[in-house]
Amino acid sequence: MLPDITTRADVENLVNTFYDKVRNDATIGVIFNEIADVNWDTHLPKMYDFWEGILFGTGTYRSRPMPPHFKLNETYPFCPEYFDAWLALFYATVDELFEGEKATEVKMRAVNIAAVMEHRIGQINAGTLSSLLHRHQ
Ligand code: HEM
Repeated sequence: MLPDITTRADVENLVNTFYDKVRNDATIGVIFNEIADVNWDTHLPKMYDFWEGILFGTGTYRSRPMPPHFKLNETYPFCPEYFDAWLALFYATVDELFEGEKATEVKMRAVNIAAVMEHRIGQINAGTLSSLLHRHQ
């Protein structure tokens, strides 16, 4: 039986293990390693704050999660496969390390935020495609 997520150290373990997988992923690794060229020294602590806030209401993450993704999507358009890959890695990480109420909650929160993000990016990209098509009519 695995433990549940109960401390900041658990959140750090979850986030570190998740991004180890992300960095090596054939579908989305390139977005982190090359397109965004992520500074892991700042990104990882930000993600500890983000998930700790979601699970325990600590409120240390004070930014907005969506805009950096919209910006990345401008240079490297996101498609549904990227969200599938992201979520599959997130679920695999949680299930490998934890089980319980918080473990279930964190997966639900991830899938909900991913759905909103995918929907909004889909709308943006549909708009871009549509204006490109009209320009060439
Ligand atoms: C296709 C799926 C996704 C990809 C490829 C992706 C990629 C990235 C990248 C490359 C960054 C770093 C941007 C930078 O520092 O330059 C980032 C930041 C972030 N991502 Fe994602 N992401 C994805 C989905 C998600 C989802 C589903 C969530 C939440 C559940 C999320 C939460 C965040 C947060 C909180 C940040 C930090 C934003 C800030 O700067 O405050 N991401 N993401």
